[in-house]
Amino acid sequence: MNTATDYQQIQQRYEFDVYPKRDITFVRGEGCRVWDDTGKEYLDCAAGHGVVNVGHCNTAVVEAIQRQAEKLITCPGTYYNDAKAQLLEKLASITPDGLNRSFLCNSGAEAIEAAIKFARATTGRTKFVCANRSFHGRTMGALSATFSKAYKDSFEPLVPGFEFTPYNNIEALGAAVTNETAAVILEPVLGEGGVYVGDHDYLQAARNICDKSGALLIFDEIQTGFCRTGKMFASMHAEVIPDMMCVAKAIAGGLPMGAVICGQKVEVSIGSHGSTFGGNPICCAAANAAIEYMVANKLDENAASLGSQLVTRLNDANLSRVREIRGVGLMIGIELRTKARPFVMQLLEEGVITLPTGATVIRLLPPLTITQEEITHLEERLTSCFT
Ligand SMILES: Cc1ncc(COP(=O)(O)O)c(C=O)c1O
Repeated sequence: MNTATDYQQIQQRYEFDVYPKRDITFVRGEGCRVWDDTGKEYLDCAAGHGVVNVGHCNTAVVEAIQRQAEKLITCPGTYYNDAKAQLLEKLASITPDGLNRSFLCNSGAEAIEAAIKFARATTGRTKFVCANRSFHGRTMGALSATFSKAYKDSFEPLVPGFEFTPYNNIEALGAAVTNETAAVILEPVLGEGGVYVGDHDYLQAARNICDKSGALLIFDEIQTGFCRTGKMFASMHAEVIPDMMCVAKAIAGGLPMGAVICGQKVEVSIGSHGSTFGGNPICCAAANAAIEYMVANKLDENAASLGSQLVTRLNDANLSRVREIRGVGLMIGIELRTKARPFVMQLLEEGVITLPTGATVIRLLPPLTITQEEITHLEERLTSCFT
């Protein structure tokens, strides 16, 4: 049998690695907990980068995967499928009015990529306006919509026509959007960019600016969607309905899936886009179970109440190392006065998984099934770490 070191050595030898690695081999997960191969338990406040909103190995999701795996594992988009039909109907029922038709794919970047193509095909225009600090994924189109040079430097030239304006700045957005703009692409809360919450009037102004210029409005809800911020989708706080909503991460309870949920204005011709695995029956069955679980267990309310409780308590503790705490629901960024990475490593050593974002921000994206007891434990660990 392989030991921990063996697995790490094998991966080091055979993986074409693009990730800075931590010295841990995870082998099991349940709810908000994961275990490494030495049996050490961790409180996972990163949820696989914001994926398992319904908790690791959620029983409903596991059973749905098992049932579907015995029935039908793959089905091309050229045929109809029961699990897919159920998911499409479900997505229309949980998204705002008018967002009724979804293109299913396999990841966040693919959803952004499709939305860029759909915007170009619908409007016949080629320019896009995005936000400073945005992150939309690693493929060439999604990378073109991403702000940070660090992600893009080795890969220029990217897709032309992308412009960036300061987030939450209505005037700058209004000045950048013209009758040549195909779409404005925004995250309702910047995730990788440091957890900055979009002002409601900024998101509403983005809608008006797009309507006046004939541009489409695309919301990237890949990280903010599926109850993360205390509502099913973060744009619901501002009551703004985009023309396309890109989702992924938490949609299928941990399985790879993405979607572009489209409004009536969006049109592309049959055959102009596609994906071999998009809308895979197992992923659809998992997504059906995950979404049903989120709704039945009111994970939006749990995220809203436990998130605001944690932020209030951390603010009340006046932690000397903390400059500012930002966020909404259980999408929280703790900006430190010094570099974040040493504290991420210290918390990891103490059995708490968090995510750094930028140089000085620690991001918390725990499963939304997190309990009061687990939140209290997290608060205690953070308080002792940042005092
Ligand atoms: C807001 C946002 N958009 C897009 C992506 C890209 O998603 P994926 O890694 O599934 O391609 C991410 C991933 O972190 C994200 O946070």
